[in-house]
Amino acid sequence: MRNEQVPDRNIAMELVRTTEAAALAAARWMGRGDKNASDQAAVDAMRLMLDTVSMDGVIVIGEGEKDEAPMLYNGERVGSQDGPQVDVAVDPIDGTRLLALGRPGALAVVAVSPRGTMYNPGDVFYMEKIAVGPAARGMIDLSAPVVWNIQQVARANDLAVEEVTVVMLDRDRNTALADQVRAAGSRIRFISDGDVEGAISAALPGRGVDMLLGIGGSPEGVITACALKSMGGDIQARMWARDDNDRKVAAEQGISFDQVLTIDDLVGSDDVFFAATGITTGDMLRGVEYVPGGAQSESLVMRSRSGTMRRITTDHRWRKLQSISGDRYAVDERE
Ligand code: FBP
Repeated sequence: MRNEQVPDRNIAMELVRTTEAAALAAARWMGRGDKNASDQAAVDAMRLMLDTVSMDGVIVIGEGEKDEAPMLYNGERVGSQDGPQVDVAVDPIDGTRLLALGRPGALAVVAVSPRGTMYNPGDVFYMEKIAVGPAARGMIDLSAPVVWNIQQVARANDLAVEEVTVVMLDRDRNTALADQVRAAGSRIRFISDGDVEGAISAALPGRGVDMLLGIGGSPEGVITACALKSMGGDIQARMWARDDNDRKVAAEQGISFDQVLTIDDLVGSDDVFFAATGITTGDMLRGVEYVPGGAQSESLVMRSRSGTMRRITTDHRWRKLQSISGDRYAVDERE
């Protein structure tokens, strides 16, 4: 008898429509200097499409509180309500500043895992992170010295320590860490924003970066864990306090600044779905490009259970989109 199972539904194939919608709506704001307007456009478009996805979703990782930007709220119910019960992480624009300034690497991102499996960072907005690709999986330890982790990644990737490239957000709070990387003799690629893309790039072959280090957003850390689960990479994190207020909030919400969170603490399931669409062209994905009567987008779609990673290029026709969704998004005034 053949051991055959009917393949189940891959929600990621539906989720990519939500990131495409957010990217199409946001891309019109490229370089126009208005972070909030682009965020609002992306949030509205993503919310509209999320409700078409066959899931009973609750947003665990919403985004926007730290800078009072428009947002999909934590606790908000999303999805068609007739599918599996899931946790949802959204980042309609990772890199709002990149988009507003017309710089590379802004993405629309969403991730889904079974209900109750995503780590909730509460109202503590930053975490220390170390993220690597599949070769170095299981070989990192956030509580160990930076140089030890770099040596581990060098060994895993068959490189000299001096050849290892670390991607890191260019922030004052990461200066001490950058000094330790320099003391080890390794190279640093500083990014002005977008550490989700930074971590994913470190896990993809041929992107010129081997690991992500540094303090960045905690919502982005959970989303990164979802992507790395699918890619076979690894991440560890530790919540980080900016000030006494963060310490007070953490105490009230039961959040520890000592615990090293493993990838399984960040997303405790092996059935995770992830989709990202480029808004502005970056190292990983092409951004939204306009063509007569429509636009083209490029997306990454992943599912951890199968390990499948799809790169999807989509041709969007404005007339079709408008007939489906009215003038809610991607409206071309010239049409
Ligand atoms: P947003 O576009 O959502 O603001 O996030 C951009 C980002 O660079 C993230 O990739 C990163 O984790 C976080 O901001 C870092 O926070 P901050 O800009 O406050 O240092």
